[in-house]
Amino acid sequence: MSKDNQQFTDLLIPRTIDGIIGQDVIKRKLRGYITSKNMPHLVFYGQAGLGKTALSEALISEWLKGLNPTEKERCYLIIKASTQKERGIAVINEYERFCDLPSIGVPFKICVWEEADGLTSAAQKALKDLLSNPLHSKNVRSIFITNYINKLSPELRGSGGRCELMPFKKVQENVMLKWLLTSIIPALMNLKLINEESREKLIVNKAEVLVNIVKVSDGSPRAVLRKLQTYVQSGIISSTDEEYTLNPFEMISLALKGKIGESSRIADKLIYSDGVNIYSLLNDLRKIVQKEDIKELRNIYKGELLMYLKDLQSSIFLGVSDEMILSGLIGKCVVLGTMNNEDKLKHKEVS
Ligand SMILES: Nc1ncnc2c1ncn2[C@@H]1O[C@H](COP(=O)(O)OP(=O)(O)OP(=O)(O)O)[C@@H](O)[C@H]1O
Ligand SMILES: [Mg+2]
Repeated sequence: MSKDNQQFTDLLIPRTIDGIIGQDVIKRKLRGYITSKNMPHLVFYGQAGLGKTALSEALISEWLKGLNPTEKERCYLIIKASTQKERGIAVINEYERFCDLPSIGVPFKICVWEEADGLTSAAQKALKDLLSNPLHSKNVRSIFITNYINKLSPELRGSGGRCELMPFKKVQENVMLKWLLTSIIPALMNLKLINEESREKLIVNKAEVLVNIVKVSDGSPRAVLRKLQTYVQSGIISSTDEEYTLNPFEMISLALKGKIGESSRIADKLIYSDGVNIYSLLNDLRKIVQKEDIKELRNIYKGELLMYLKDLQSSIFLGVSDEMILSGLIGKCVVLGTMNNEDKLKHKEVS
């Protein structure tokens, strides 16, 4: 995939603890653990997009600094308890096998439990028993990650004081604004993902656009990056709560260019991985298409696309599936894109 099609959130992953914004108390404690080479089990919890996963990865990379790649491989394990395969007792066996490997070069290996609240109760119980067994905790520390602390079993949460609770907080608006201006925009310029002209647009009038993006992002740096990307690519600031891992406009744009396969892959991801609300997705797309500065389409086809998006919204209430709706949309865009190109050709022939 060319970097133009990639998400800002994937291109701008903070690799160090200092690269994470906000969460000052947590970062201070983690730096202390690294210096003292000692660490309790941790629970990272809080709303989506605050950097829990990114910070766990930065911590691992700083904790394992100096080890060679093979040693590193042996010293951490990431378990994502949201997938069916990794929710049950089998994963506890995998964890046990990991515990049995010697830790080389570090006092503790690290196991990250992503979406830890997704573990079955049998798995949580078995895990709690392992955590209370001093032999097992000897050379492994766990980081439990969850959005909702209450969903984590009290045994794991407390583990008799064995786990340090680390609540992730919304990031303050002024901190995010400074981050955008001093770190994100220069990085995007370096990656050639924005040019001088777009940069000017972002910072004109006391950075009005950035201020607005931050305001609708509810303290989440991930939401800020996604909304910034949507703005850079399409000129709108999406205000819905919907968070897309892939830009839905890209789906339309690829279809207009006749790239059905790539466009369908985005549609599948939006429906099956992100589980988007199809009604607000169509709303966002209508807002984007309404903007004047979309290169792909002449105005008459833009009007047709807008009407089609509205029809699709009505069809939701008739029970048409999300998949059918997005396939219809992709088909329509392919046709409109072709007609648009034919018009352009004709225009060239005439002139
Ligand atoms: N505090 C932060 N500082 C810098 N970048 C951040 C921060 N939080 C999020 N991001 C950006 O958003 C991306 C996604 O964040 P991350 O996956 O770590 O959030 P999360 O808290 O784990 O969310 P979820 O609860 O949905 O898993 C990061 O890769 C990074 O680009
Ligand atoms: Mg995460």
